Amino acid sequence: MKKIEFNQIYNVNCIEGMKSIAKNKIDLVITDPPFAINFKAKKANYNRISSRVISGYNEINPQNYYDFTFGWMSEVYRILKKSGSMYVFSGWNNLKDILQAIDDVGFITVNHIIWKYQFGVVTKKKFVTSHYHCLYVCKDEKARRFFPFSRFKKEDKNEKGRSLHYKDKEDVWEINREYWTGDEKTPTKLPSELIKKLLEYSSKKKDIVLDPFLGSGQVAVISKSLGRQFVGFEIVPDYYKFAKKRLDQNIYRIKKSN
Ligand SMILES: C[S@@+](CC[C@H](N)C(=O)[O-])C[C@H]1O[C@@H](n2cnc3c(N)ncnc32)[C@H](O)[C@@H]1O
Repeated sequence: MKKIEFNQIYNVNCIEGMKSIAKNKIDLVITDPPFAINFKAKKANYNRISSRVISGYNEINPQNYYDFTFGWMSEVYRILKKSGSMYVFSGWNNLKDILQAIDDVGFITVNHIIWKYQFGVVTKKKFVTSHYHCLYVCKDEKARRFFPFSRFKKEDKNEKGRSLHYKDKEDVWEINREYWTGDEKTPTKLPSELIKKLLEYSSKKKDIVLDPFLGSGQVAVISKSLGRQFVGFEIVPDYYKFAKKRLDQNIYRIKKSN
């Protein structure tokens, strides 16, 4: 594959894409890999009109999930700077494979964040799943960068006198999923507020942010909007085209805090 440039996204398998990036180049990885739960893209329950969901979601066989995860994470480890960090989203179904691969590849776990969203799938015989796990990991605990007052100052308080920066840094985050506007959509999308929060705590302007599994391109789009450099990969041509269009049109302009 030809040389990878930053501030671009590519319609390739992320393993192939990452192999074309030199080691120790990337500052931050935010990613939401395929879940291996035979996800029926067209029937995603929170996209009510399934005909508008672009088909082709590339799912992974659950039996191969550990090997698949170990493969892509090893490439991330190679191209991440010593000071770099990664945030990986995971449902609970294949969490054990994600946690095992994190250890086996050599990452150090920093936090285990829970993202609580509205609208789980209603169930009669069990509890409603309404959260994702987000594993915050790094290569080197001493070199790792974190910007604790990038969103709230130490002295900022709410109307009850409680510290805002403390509240923002608790590891359970209640952030709503976003409704899609427009006719076309991919089956899953992380909320912009969630990505913005990760970017603000773990990167600065001009840092290079990678998402190996772009989907709708949300990580690249929000990174661009906050003045970060970005790069990413998506294997499904129609999702890639969708993400590229969103990037080219600067779909998001969100409030910048640093
Ligand atoms: C859970 S979705 C990502 C959603 C994304 N975070 C968003 O906010 O839109 C995972 C994506 O990874 C893609 N994918 C699966 N295997 C891939 C691979 N080997 N290389 C690149 N993309 C892949 C799928 O097609 C899917 O679009």
